[in-house]
Amino acid sequence: MKIVKTIEEVREQVKAWRKEGLSVGLVPTMGYLHEGHQSLIARSVAENDRTVVSDFVNPIQFGPTEDLATYPRDLERDAALCEATGANLIFNPEAEEMYAPDFCTYVDMDHLTKGLCGASRPIHFRGVCTVVSKLFHIVQPDRAYFGQKDAQQLAVIRRMVRDLNMPLEIVGCPIIREEDGLAKSSRNTYLSAEERQAALCLSRALNKGKAAIEAGETDAAKVKAIITAEIKAEPLSRIDYVEIVDWNNLEPVASTEGSILTAIAVYIGKTRLIDNFIIER
Ligand code: PAJ
Repeated sequence: MKIVKTIEEVREQVKAWRKEGLSVGLVPTMGYLHEGHQSLIARSVAENDRTVVSDFVNPIQFGPTEDLATYPRDLERDAALCEATGANLIFNPEAEEMYAPDFCTYVDMDHLTKGLCGASRPIHFRGVCTVVSKLFHIVQPDRAYFGQKDAQQLAVIRRMVRDLNMPLEIVGCPIIREEDGLAKSSRNTYLSAEERQAALCLSRALNKGKAAIEAGETDAAKVKAIITAEIKAEPLSRIDYVEIVDWNNLEPVASTEGSILTAIAVYIGKTRLIDNFIIER
């Protein structure tokens, strides 16, 4: 497995693979890899001849008051995980390699990016769409892998690929959790022992909401109330949002009967955590 820092090195390697007729999968990440990322890498390794993992903390998707400076990094550990999982190349550029000082071209999206996380993170999805487009152009993969953990991101990337006719397949992968239910996240490392325990309110609340729907509750407002009450019972929590939306267009729904995404964002202390479940029908 190789680690490269420049766009040119990625292009050369992919060109050589293409000459041999090999298929290529891409797993975009911001590093500090855990079993959630690993599940995406393993899926790409299973479905493609070669797998590229990008490991890049993308500055333009962080707001001015967000955690860009403190976002955890550990390339050595990431490399070991990638190698053990069968990846072939890590692309780990410096910000200057990705963004020229006079960079001014962005990929932006209406509608899907305005609600949920977009409401409190107004420039976030512009940054994500821009960097993911750049990665698609640099690597030109057959398939790219994204986790359902960031469900809005998955929906946004799928829409971008459709709207801009990008020639690749987007593969969505299930949420990987800790044994006690907490969705794995690089940001879980910010939590103190007490906060780590409090963070269980997210998955617990979603499980209650899901159980209510499975028991026949169709009123989205009632399901949201069940989820909200469970989170509010945890003193260290502060809700950013609890939403039930149509999984196809991310518009809020009144009834839970169609294909729906139930998504939450909750501060535990200073750490903002997200979680969700999707019901497709
Ligand atoms: P990052 O947060 O590092 O996540 C990289 C990928 O791993 C995303 O597709 C995310 O959904 C997936 N992932 C994270 N935790 C997961 C879990 N517990 N189970 C399953 N998948 C999980 O998302 C980003 O980086 C960035 O926005 C990026 C797309 C790389 C653009 O900068």
